[in-house]
Amino acid sequence: MSRQDGRQPSRASEMHPLETHGTLEMPTIKLTNKPDVTFNCADGDTVLRAALRAGLGFPYECNVGSCGNCLFEIAEGTVEHERKDAPGWNERHKSRNRWLGCQARPKGDLAIKVNLRDHYAPRFKPARTSARVESITDVTHDIREFRLKPAAATRFLPGQYALLYVPGVEGARAYSMANITDDGAIWDFQIKKVPGGAATERLFSGVEAGEEIAIDGPFGMAYLREDAPRDILCLAGGSGLSPMVSIARGFAACGALQGQQLHFVYGGRQVRDIAGEQFLTELAGFGSRIHYYPVLSMPEGENWSGRTGFIHDAALALFGDKLKEMEIYFAGPPAMANAVVKMMHEAKVPQAQVHYDQFY
Ligand SMILES: Cc1cc2nc3c(=O)[nH]c(=O)nc-3n(C[C@H](O)[C@H](O)[C@H](O)COP(=O)(O)OP(=O)(O)OC[C@H]3O[C@@H](n4cnc5c(N)ncnc54)[C@H](O)[C@@H]3O)c2cc1C
Ligand code: FES
Repeated sequence: MSRQDGRQPSRASEMHPLETHGTLEMPTIKLTNKPDVTFNCADGDTVLRAALRAGLGFPYECNVGSCGNCLFEIAEGTVEHERKDAPGWNERHKSRNRWLGCQARPKGDLAIKVNLRDHYAPRFKPARTSARVESITDVTHDIREFRLKPAAATRFLPGQYALLYVPGVEGARAYSMANITDDGAIWDFQIKKVPGGAATERLFSGVEAGEEIAIDGPFGMAYLREDAPRDILCLAGGSGLSPMVSIARGFAACGALQGQQLHFVYGGRQVRDIAGEQFLTELAGFGSRIHYYPVLSMPEGENWSGRTGFIHDAALALFGDKLKEMEIYFAGPPAMANAVVKMMHEAKVPQAQVHYDQFY
């Protein structure tokens, strides 16, 4: 596809995510440590996402260059790194010819070393498509729900996320879906405005219903475990609302989990930040098997007689020793996530029962 001005993009990183050169052959990537595995990488795609599209369990977490979980080693061939300043990529990695799978675009055929793990193999293979903004609705003073309708429907699991290529913003941003779906026709995102943030400033002031946005997904491992026979605890702070609402919706709709309880703890600084209950009251079982606990961390001067403090402390106070027997999902800003991880560790919650994709 050529640009409207007739110029061809000179580098893959300058290309629109749905654009291809249309001239190069699809690079083939083979694994030196698993010689029976090869996969193709569509023009302009990254090594990680091409592997996931092929159904392979390539390790990853954030998809935006921050966590470093997608590192691989190049034995033969060259790549272009989309984000040169990626926080998950350092000088030591570079000196060892190690690259981030979510940022590396092959310049031709590659031979690489990476340890695949079944855990990361996608249940629904991610796809790139364009999506139309159907509606934009306020959730709080700084969280909005964006309803997107992808041109090609793709299913996802409750709690997963997608990459959004916000027009005019360099690089993709990860956002979690808030809805659940049987056909993948609608993807809802609850997005918190970050003051001065490139993507969220643009989403909140420049994007309107009817606009097209490129999206890619689904991704993420913090999805609802329908086969886990334990009560569920969802912990959400600020921007973490969306995936926890999706988990709660998935729980309400899941026949296999009808015997379990779900507890939803949401933390905000002030009363105007509190959200979540409006989505839970719509669910069958609210008040009997779905329970909501709002927590304020800065209650001073607020008209508030409910719980106060941080989310991790509230969770410990509410459930104490019972945490060890719960399936725990959480999402929110890095400081909250780190505090929750520490608390879970001290409370000796088995790691296999804890599910989160770190926000960056
Ligand atoms: C798995 C995951 C799920 C998330 N889900 C949600 C959600 O449901 N709701 C929500 O409100 N937020 C969510 N976030 C946070 C969201 O992705 C953004 O970090 C946040 O909206 C701030 O983006 P910004 O561009 O406005 O801010 P900025 O400060 O401009 O950008 C912040 C983020 O963008 C990254 N970044 C900067 N430049 C680039 C680049 N060139 N390419 C790629 N990344 C770059 C930074 O490392 C940082 O992580 C999620 C994050 C992750 C990792
Ligand atoms: S750095 Fe690539 S998945 Fe996080």
